[in-house]
Amino acid sequence: MESKTDQKKVLSIGMVCLDIVTVCHTYPKEDTDQRVLDYYWQRGGNASTTSTVLAMLGERSEFMGAMATDVESKFLTENLKSYGVSHDNAMVCGPDIKTPVSMVIINQSNGSRTILHCAKNLPEVSFSHFQTLDLSQYKWIHVEGRPAPDAYNQIMCSVVEYNDTVVEKITISLELEKPGRPELDSLIQYADVVFISKEKADEERLYSKEDVVRAYIKRCKAGAVVICAWGDQGAAALSSTDGVLCTSPVFPPETLVDTLGAGDTFNAATIFALCQGRSVQEAITLGCKVAGTKCGMKGNKGLKDIIW
Ligand code: FRU
Repeated sequence: MESKTDQKKVLSIGMVCLDIVTVCHTYPKEDTDQRVLDYYWQRGGNASTTSTVLAMLGERSEFMGAMATDVESKFLTENLKSYGVSHDNAMVCGPDIKTPVSMVIINQSNGSRTILHCAKNLPEVSFSHFQTLDLSQYKWIHVEGRPAPDAYNQIMCSVVEYNDTVVEKITISLELEKPGRPELDSLIQYADVVFISKEKADEERLYSKEDVVRAYIKRCKAGAVVICAWGDQGAAALSSTDGVLCTSPVFPPETLVDTLGAGDTFNAATIFALCQGRSVQEAITLGCKVAGTKCGMKGNKGLKDIIW
């Protein structure tokens, strides 16, 4: 029988955007006219991709972020539906608001992804919009740190306050990925699980996944876990409860096909495992396995058919 907690959802808050993906034999030379292998539209954005992978792994998954009403957003909403990701509480903005679009070049010879992102006028999600949500529906809220520190501080603080009033607490995770946003570090205080990216670590002159988790755990609340995925070096995690450093190797596919969204996939699989009550060690190992498998396929639809 499903317990009450199983019926609750994982909410991912952050961005959904359109990725216009172009697949090239090799990375293109500037100012040339050349033929490419393929192009397609794909739904992207860190929180949106994380919500997709969570749904494919079997969680009840919801995405919440700002969405426009243009042609691109129609594609995105249909696509969310097709993956079984709810977006009933998205902050819908219109009519002159444009969906953010990334032009993504995938280099087929090594799977690298180069992202050229164009955000025009889509606002960030507001705290007043977040307050319309019924928090009793969620067991986990994952927050992609976006450049709206005030709103995100209020959102995360309100979940902590909600947790103080209930028995079934919501686990809060935070992803800090983009460099150049130190103002978002204040969000760390609210999170139970913190994902720090290699890009952010580079900026802080932290040159290994182990250094990152050791440095960041000092900024976290008691009981929190810091996790850092480090490309082909796998991932590390450190929990303030037991102080034990866990690491996982990478699980590379035979051929690297497409690394777009690998980090978002890692986060999703790690959250999924923690939701299942698995240990931090098991969770980051599953994160690396699912992310590695994703890198061997175009997009991420193929993850659906795999039993982990
Ligand atoms: C991948 C991704 C893409 C999106 C870009 C935004 O992590 O979410 O889907 O275009 O990052 O920075």
